[in-house]
Amino acid sequence: MLGDSGSVITPNAPRAGTKNIACAYRIATAPCRFGARAIIAAFFNPETYVWPSPGVGHALQNSMRVLVTGGAGYIGSVVAEQLVKDGHDTLVYDNLGKGHRGAVVEGAKFVEADLTDGEALRRAFVEQGTEAVIHMAADSIVGESVANPSKYYRNNVVAGLALLDVMNKCGVRRCVFSSTAAVYGEPRRQPVEETDPTRPTNPYGETKLAFEHALRWYECAYGIRYASLRYFNAAGATPDRGEAHDPESHLIPIVLQAAAGKRTHVEIHGADYPTRDGTCVRDYIHVADLARAHILALSILDQRSAIYNLGCGGDGYTVREVIGVAREVTGRDIATHTGPRRPGDPAVLIASSAKIRTELGWSPQFQDLRLIVESAWAWMQAHPYGYGK
Ligand code: UFG
Repeated sequence: MLGDSGSVITPNAPRAGTKNIACAYRIATAPCRFGARAIIAAFFNPETYVWPSPGVGHALQNSMRVLVTGGAGYIGSVVAEQLVKDGHDTLVYDNLGKGHRGAVVEGAKFVEADLTDGEALRRAFVEQGTEAVIHMAADSIVGESVANPSKYYRNNVVAGLALLDVMNKCGVRRCVFSSTAAVYGEPRRQPVEETDPTRPTNPYGETKLAFEHALRWYECAYGIRYASLRYFNAAGATPDRGEAHDPESHLIPIVLQAAAGKRTHVEIHGADYPTRDGTCVRDYIHVADLARAHILALSILDQRSAIYNLGCGGDGYTVREVIGVAREVTGRDIATHTGPRRPGDPAVLIASSAKIRTELGWSPQFQDLRLIVESAWAWMQAHPYGYGK
């Protein structure tokens, strides 16, 4: 127990999750038009579900004590799930501002507190004997960041620095950071490499880049090693954890909400881009593949710091292609309406992930967009109220 500042380390109580998994399995094995039934059944069957395997020779050899900030959020909860499955001592530190208590994996300890609560953080480090931090607590909506940069500087920079300062005081010298493709702004060439210029076009990308710069200087001065993972478009779900934002701004859950009848239509933000069908191209990466990269990244921090892009590469998918795949997966009509461009959207964003593939042996195992959409649809069907009810 941590005591009096409102933060308490609690072992995460077991939840009745099997019903949802069984439900997801039933949905996943329903007939679908593209004939991937066998793959999908294996993906969602709790008996056969296989997490992405680590790259050969790069898995962490020993169990580690890892504190995950934002571990009750969409990506953070899957990272914590993967850590627990791999046998790491996992502590989720989250103020539940946007995260969900129900998303915290069974087997992780949980502290509900803010990053700026230095005393709660210090006690969490001491009590766990934290060896590494995976820092995922942040605000991440581009449009909101333009309207309210103050919030983004406070939560993504000021709170992040508070974390680094307590890490430094407590001797925690390893940090995996959840960064973003938004640090590149409007890239001049595709696929984007880590050495390409960083020119963010909104406060979200700018604040993430500011924290990356802070990491570099904190390493020089205090020896804190870091791995910055620049995500492209995270999507999909595991059987127990999926995307539950309110309001939702990401394309795939919005399209699936329309398929589920929760929205009348999908607004396509611009169809006059210089792309194959006029809509924006993005590089979608399954959240379980992202999670695996975080654990691999921990393994290098004894030797060095690094920055990696995380996407699947290839040709990516246009907005219309995503909607087409969702129609196939759900077997439902999805109405669309073409509106104006959304400010700040680059036409194309595709990652070169050659660096992380070569250096860490990572490769995406759910590269097919149909599997990504299928997993998100199954999760949505099994959790119609998200983590709410
Ligand atoms: N889109 C629509 N309609 C919608 C929602 C999205 O047409 O209702 C389009 C967007 O305009 C964009 C594409 O679908 O072209 C993907 O949009 P998302 O909001 O799902 O994702 P973004 O590409 O905007 O954002 C992602 C990450 C951010 C990151 C950004 C980098 O979620 O964290 O890439 O540009 F900053």
